[in-house]
Amino acid sequence: MVVNEVSCENLSKVYSNGKEALSDISFTIPTRGVFALIGRNGAGKTTLTRVMSTLLEPSSGRATIDGLDIMEDAAELRSRMAVVPQEGKVVPWMSPVQMITAYLLWRGEAHKDAMRKARDAVAMVGIEEHANRINRVLSGGMKRKALVAMVIASGADLIFLDEPSTGLDPISRRDLWGLLTDISKDRFLFMTTHYLEEAESIADRIGILDGGRLLALGSMEDLRASMGRRYVLKFPSGTALPPFEGEMMVGRDGMTQVMTTDEGSHELSKVLIDSGTWFSLNPVTLEDIFYRKVGRKIDADNGEARD
Ligand SMILES: Nc1ncnc2c1ncn2[C@@H]1O[C@H](COP(=O)(O)OP(=O)(O)OP(=O)(O)O)[C@@H](O)[C@H]1O
Ligand SMILES: [Mg+2]
Repeated sequence: MVVNEVSCENLSKVYSNGKEALSDISFTIPTRGVFALIGRNGAGKTTLTRVMSTLLEPSSGRATIDGLDIMEDAAELRSRMAVVPQEGKVVPWMSPVQMITAYLLWRGEAHKDAMRKARDAVAMVGIEEHANRINRVLSGGMKRKALVAMVIASGADLIFLDEPSTGLDPISRRDLWGLLTDISKDRFLFMTTHYLEEAESIADRIGILDGGRLLALGSMEDLRASMGRRYVLKFPSGTALPPFEGEMMVGRDGMTQVMTTDEGSHELSKVLIDSGTWFSLNPVTLEDIFYRKVGRKIDADNGEARD
């Protein structure tokens, strides 16, 4: 029976210099949609991406994709994968269409099909105007789009993209979100990002890594539920409030932010309306969750644990 799941059991990676980049990672997610890994520089995102895409051996533990072991069944898995590493570079002396055609020929496609698929993919990512210019003269963002086009053209159903949107302008990034959402409808996309809004917008599931440990994993709703508080109210500091369940902080803009439960948000909203205070009420964002989960750990590591 084929199990459509990506599963890690106690996965660890210690590099040869003794650095433990992944520590006891366990999770199971369906092999569909977008899975986004977030975490600070050095958290282990690239290491986990490389291990799961069979490019790097774990030191211990086990992982499977659709029941296939990433070590024992690596060859079979690789035939279904397309990977763009964080430092993925285009071939400078080829055009996007030439580069993608060459890649597809290497994957075993017939020449005519390869050319057609390369042109279609280049059009899909919106760089058709540059399809026949050599990659060396393209901007950084166009080069990244050419790499995403290569992955789309491959037809692989397991796609690994390490920071695909780094270096893209805000409009191109949103175009890419649409593209990644589209291609993940019938494929599995494993990606990393530093843009929390991006993970929140396009990921079906999000993993938060920190210091090689998985701090949390789940859908936005799962992550909100794990905080026990689903709403954030924002209002001018100095407003008198009754006791409530939740936590309060003053933002950089001088406004007070309260993260609270469903009930707390109701009660506080009533008080703020009655006192004629302007306020905003929003669901907890990934940024709120990230700063609390990762930021709190940093404070604790520095001996400044707070609630
Ligand atoms: N080849 C290597 N040998 C030794 N240590 C390594 C190696 N590659 C990465 N590391 C270390 O492992 C840890 C995790 O690195 P990794 O590249 O996986 O982090 P990351 O989350 O992808 O960071 P970034 O956001 O900066 O890309 C870091 O401390 C890094 O210095
Ligand atoms: Mg990385």
